[in-house]
Amino acid sequence: MPHFLDSVPFSGIIRIRDMMYAVDRPFRLDQGDLSFDAPDSVKQGMARAIAENRSHYLQTAGVPRLQELLAEKLRARNGIPVASPDEVMVTNGGIHALYILFQALLDPGDEVIIPDPLWPPAAGTILSARGQVVRYPLHEATGWRLDVEELAARITPRTRVIYVNSPQNPTGGVLTREDLEAIAALARTHGLWIVSDEAYEDVVYGVEHVSAASLAGMYPRTVPVYTFSKSYAMTGLRLGYLAVADRELRDRVRKALFFTTSNVSSIVQYGGIGALEGSQETVEAFRAELQARRDLFYAGIESLGGLFAGCPPRGAFYAFLKFDPDWKARVDPARLADAAARRPAGTEAPSSPSWAITEFLISAARIGCVPGVDFGPGGEGYLRFCFARDRQELAGAIESMRQVFDRGPRPADD
Ligand SMILES: Cc1ncc(COP(=O)(O)O)c(C=O)c1O
Repeated sequence: MPHFLDSVPFSGIIRIRDMMYAVDRPFRLDQGDLSFDAPDSVKQGMARAIAENRSHYLQTAGVPRLQELLAEKLRARNGIPVASPDEVMVTNGGIHALYILFQALLDPGDEVIIPDPLWPPAAGTILSARGQVVRYPLHEATGWRLDVEELAARITPRTRVIYVNSPQNPTGGVLTREDLEAIAALARTHGLWIVSDEAYEDVVYGVEHVSAASLAGMYPRTVPVYTFSKSYAMTGLRLGYLAVADRELRDRVRKALFFTTSNVSSIVQYGGIGALEGSQETVEAFRAELQARRDLFYAGIESLGGLFAGCPPRGAFYAFLKFDPDWKARVDPARLADAAARRPAGTEAPSSPSWAITEFLISAARIGCVPGVDFGPGGEGYLRFCFARDRQELAGAIESMRQVFDRGPRPADD
């Protein structure tokens, strides 16, 4: 019997994760996870909570001390005029914050304007709330930023929300203050909400991160969404949060929060308290190391003779690279045939150019990556590699590509 949820696509990232389990000695450049471990302040916070028997039900919106610390962080670091810790709600990671927020914001058929390409679960959480996604393009030539006119042209009477994500997954693009001011003006003129996904707020390389809710007068109509996953290497612990100024919306979000989790794990929330009370030096150390890894990975990519093209990103930790459409000419035909033969019986041939090269990289080079088309139609022709893996793994992946694409570029026709 068909069900509404059948129409909501699952991200291809999950399919790739499953394929990678079958690979011996893999290079896991597919998922957005860091090779770092959570700082000691987080582990100590959790250990203390266990020792103090913090194993009981909690307030739905979060441990009051954590809400207090987050309200202070949002004011001091993000410049958002949070009036009270009650405005902050603690969630089971950023994805949960988006899920409950769209449940609370949307009625069936409401439209949310999103960038193309974009991290697929953002669209998934909108579609799960029976909303519709309307995509606006990002442009590589301007550092994967938007053309505000193109966004404006997509506003209809059904539009309810503009979703922004800066620094961006998968492109690494960072919106400027002027970009956000222009989006804010549109939201004001048309009476729209802004959902500002700032999962990578701490991962910027020499540019400013601006929170949309910090712009003058914007917090009442902007909901900023954050996670501890990337800043504190807490991907598996599951801790995120959002801040909602509007009372009515906040009550709806709290309801969705309660129905989906009752409260976020007590132990993990104490880990979050540890993270915020402790030194923030690791956040900067992670950022500096990620910048070094970005540079190392791009130097390796450049040494592959034009197989991939793209500029190093200004934020996040992904290389979103255009691949040579003629890549098969660089591979020994026997190797191509062997990779195709290793596709498990009954699995379909790749359905698009970016899936074809992804499957080849996985089976022939043991490298996990994500086909650009998984992020939206605008991502076809690209691949996403995560460079938050350790230096040895990144160097190993480059070396593996060098061995597999050993035929050099095809000479230009003349
Ligand atoms: C753009 C973006 N938003 C939100 C998230 C949510 O992260 P988490 O659910 O691990 O907190 C991610 C994770 O990759 C992301 O890339």
